[in-house]
Amino acid sequence: MAFSPKILIVDDEPRMCESLRMLLGAKGYEVYTAVSGAEARAILQDKQFDVALLDMVMPDTDGHQLMDLINQKNPDTAVIVITGDVSLESAIGALKKGAYDYVRKPFEFEELLTTVENALKQKRLKRENAIIHEKLEWSESCYRRLVEHSPDIIYALDEAGNFTFISNAAERLLCMDRQQLISKHYNTIIHEDDQEKAKWFFNDRRTGERSTTGVELKLVSSEGCGEPKSYEVRHLTIELKSTGIYDKDVMDRSKKFLGTYGVARDISDRKRLESQLRHAQKMEAVGTLAGGIAHDFNNLLMGIQGHASLMLLKTDPEHTHYRNLNSIEQLVQNGADLTKQLLGFARDGKYDVKSTNMNEIIRDTLRMFGRTKKEISIYEEYEEFIWPVEVDQGQLQQVLLNIFVNAGQAMPGGGDLTLVTKNVILRAQDAKTFGLPPARYVRISISDTGQGIDEGTRQRIFEPFFTTKEFGQGTGLGLASAYGIIQNHQGTIDVNSWVGEGTTFYIYLPASEKVIKDEIPFIKNNQKGSETVLLVDDEDVISKVGSQILQELGGTRC
Ligand SMILES: Nc1ncnc2c1ncn2[C@@H]1O[C@H](COP(=O)(O)OP(=O)(O)OP(=O)(O)O)[C@@H](O)[C@H]1O
Ligand SMILES: [Mg+2]
Repeated sequence: MAFSPKILIVDDEPRMCESLRMLLGAKGYEVYTAVSGAEARAILQDKQFDVALLDMVMPDTDGHQLMDLINQKNPDTAVIVITGDVSLESAIGALKKGAYDYVRKPFEFEELLTTVENALKQKRLKRENAIIHEKLEWSESCYRRLVEHSPDIIYALDEAGNFTFISNAAERLLCMDRQQLISKHYNTIIHEDDQEKAKWFFNDRRTGERSTTGVELKLVSSEGCGEPKSYEVRHLTIELKSTGIYDKDVMDRSKKFLGTYGVARDISDRKRLESQLRHAQKMEAVGTLAGGIAHDFNNLLMGIQGHASLMLLKTDPEHTHYRNLNSIEQLVQNGADLTKQLLGFARDGKYDVKSTNMNEIIRDTLRMFGRTKKEISIYEEYEEFIWPVEVDQGQLQQVLLNIFVNAGQAMPGGGDLTLVTKNVILRAQDAKTFGLPPARYVRISISDTGQGIDEGTRQRIFEPFFTTKEFGQGTGLGLASAYGIIQNHQGTIDVNSWVGEGTTFYIYLPASEKVIKDEIPFIKNNQKGSETVLLVDDEDVISKVGSQILQELGGTRC
């Protein structure tokens, strides 16, 4: 059924009412009439009208009061005032109150009809506008929500490169108040390394319609936001997509450049994981190589050691060769220490694994180290009920000593060495950052107040034979073996260091469910035996020299 607008006619002349009712009714309107204020009030009780034709002067009521009633009942009703000469002022008063228009008596029906039609048209336009406005508001709030909930930084810059908008994500990612960024130049958030590069991709050289996609840039982020992590970064790597804004169509040559808008996605975690993966692959390759060499070299050393020991057994301490043979043994021992470190780095597997309280291992190793370094102040903070870990205690001592020695070397004039142990639960996200499965771990942090390590060096410190020390001062195997040993314990070792601010090494070892058993003391037995020993080794030199030594020492048959 077609919609027919409702019209109320209020006039104290019944004939006027009737003729208007007939004329308007013939035009398809639904018309109601009232010849008094009381009748009009009664009709307005339960009906709403699109248009009201209102005679302002009636014996029983004031037209203004009726208008107030209409405004109150249905403010959308368009009131058209019907007025005679005398009541013109009252019509003006009605217009001030919001009446749509007025017609003066006597009027042509066509004139009234046009006014009614215009009132209805305006009402329709108003309604359509309201709908459009509502839709716009909804879509604006929808886009605002999308922008504000986006994990990416969404921004807009003016033609000078100053922020006119920046989304919520900036606060979380950059730890900066976004309101304070408004009107600031984009350089405020670009890392100094990338300021020159950034010019190409933000505003400065943008002349055409090109948009930038997939550019990597470093942004600065303030310190002290979120939980400190060992991988704490003071910059953020983002992938940028930015597009120019113009006052006209992009293809129009006379268009004016107004600025840019864009999206910056935080890809720091991806970059970190990529670099971890590259590092792990490199370490694995170097480990295989180093392990192979160390293994062969170790066999050679054992051969030399064996022969030297055999000769020593049969050489009188007064003999001139005795000292030389002792030197050979000593040198072989030094060589063996080196290969031991290399094997520690490369070997897949552990030797003598026990449930261990790391606090005790650290205390013992620190005592050993502290005695030699009086100029270093040592601070210790131990987790009271530390979870046990499954480790080869000798290897772990070696790891700790290597790190302590490095710390000592980084603080030649003295400084602070701080040891902290902590039980930590690494959940999925954090564990991923460390390349570990989510689980319970014991974290050992070793901090010094030494010279720190620059970015370039930090990338390489775990590589075998990487050293910054003078020739002959360091072999570059300390951290390589520490790395290998901790990896073999299904843990990870990580470093956080800034030049001039000291260094912190973090070791994560998986916590064990096992309880720690008391040590059973090892009883030495020097008795010689008469048993038969089967000695098996694929290295000829080892089996030969080994069997000779066993026969010499034990009187056994091999
Ligand atoms: N605490 C530290 N402070 C500053 N630099 C360090 C620290 N620890 C390690 N480094 C840097 O890492 C490099 C590698 O250390 P690593 O222990 O593997 O070898 P090295 O100490 O040079 O030699 P080696 O330990 O075999 O005698 C060092 O040469 C040094 O530049
Ligand atoms: Mg070292």
